[in-house]
Amino acid sequence: MAFETIIVETEDHIATVRLNRPEALNALNGVLLGELSAALQALDADPEVRCIILTGSDKAFAAGADIREMAEKTYADVYLTDLFTNDTDAIGRVRKPIIAAVAGYALGGGCELAMACDFIICADTAKFGQPEINLGVVAGIGGTQRLTRAVGKAKAMDMNLTGRFMDAAEAERSGLVSRVVPAADLMTEARGAARKIAAKSAIAARTVKECVNRAQETSLREGLLFERRAFHALFATEDQKEGMAAFLAKREPQFRDR
Ligand code: HXC
Repeated sequence: MAFETIIVETEDHIATVRLNRPEALNALNGVLLGELSAALQALDADPEVRCIILTGSDKAFAAGADIREMAEKTYADVYLTDLFTNDTDAIGRVRKPIIAAVAGYALGGGCELAMACDFIICADTAKFGQPEINLGVVAGIGGTQRLTRAVGKAKAMDMNLTGRFMDAAEAERSGLVSRVVPAADLMTEARGAARKIAAKSAIAARTVKECVNRAQETSLREGLLFERRAFHALFATEDQKEGMAAFLAKREPQFRDR
């Protein structure tokens, strides 16, 4: 797949999507978001791909929505086109696991894009923030919603109201990211996690996504019921038989996504 603002590579069933607008610290413009959405849809449909990594550069995962592109827009422009929302919603429709591998700045829409992935692994250089308030606006694709669910009201309010950045250690302490690693190890760590996921039953992996995402959106009672139904349903798969038989035989399972 050839794009102007992203680079997509697939190796060993793992697709890596790299945001690539170095001149603007990977600021998210319409072209980039359209390409990202198209690439993710294609990777979701590609049977060779079992896990996706979304990453940026050493300096920036993404420094936010492209301010140059937004600056002159009117309310009618952004309301009627639903600026950025359709394309960023696309990431939520991907059913394969997506890991965000973040180094450097993940600000505004960049932080929101990372949070729309299934989990975030970051480098010790990472800086997260929702500085939209400095521009006279607020977050538009999850910075007041996903961030609040991830780190709680106090830190979400602090970051959205003051625009301050959170470093990698605070992000890990707060539950925004699952792991922090030295910058040089970021992609090795992300690929290691992706390889582990790629070796699982794809049916079980997608079901995990559905269940954990349900926890974000529903009551505990409904979520537990959803999980229980999913657990029961997986007993209809060959992968459940294989996984349990392999454990008992003390061998590695060979999942076939059936
Ligand atoms: C457009 C951007 C940009 C952005 C950086 N650049 N962020 N261009 N949109 N969001 C450009 C700069 O203009 C500059 O271009 C080049 O990238 C390098 O940036 P510098 O500022 O020179 O780098 P540095 O001094 O290292 O500062 C890095 C930074 C700063 C702290 C990340 O660039 C910054 O504060 N950026 C804006 C962050 C932000 O406010 N994000 C939220 C955007 S609103 P030139 O041509 O001058 O070299 C948003 C809304 C989301 O995200 C909701 C809807 C999707």
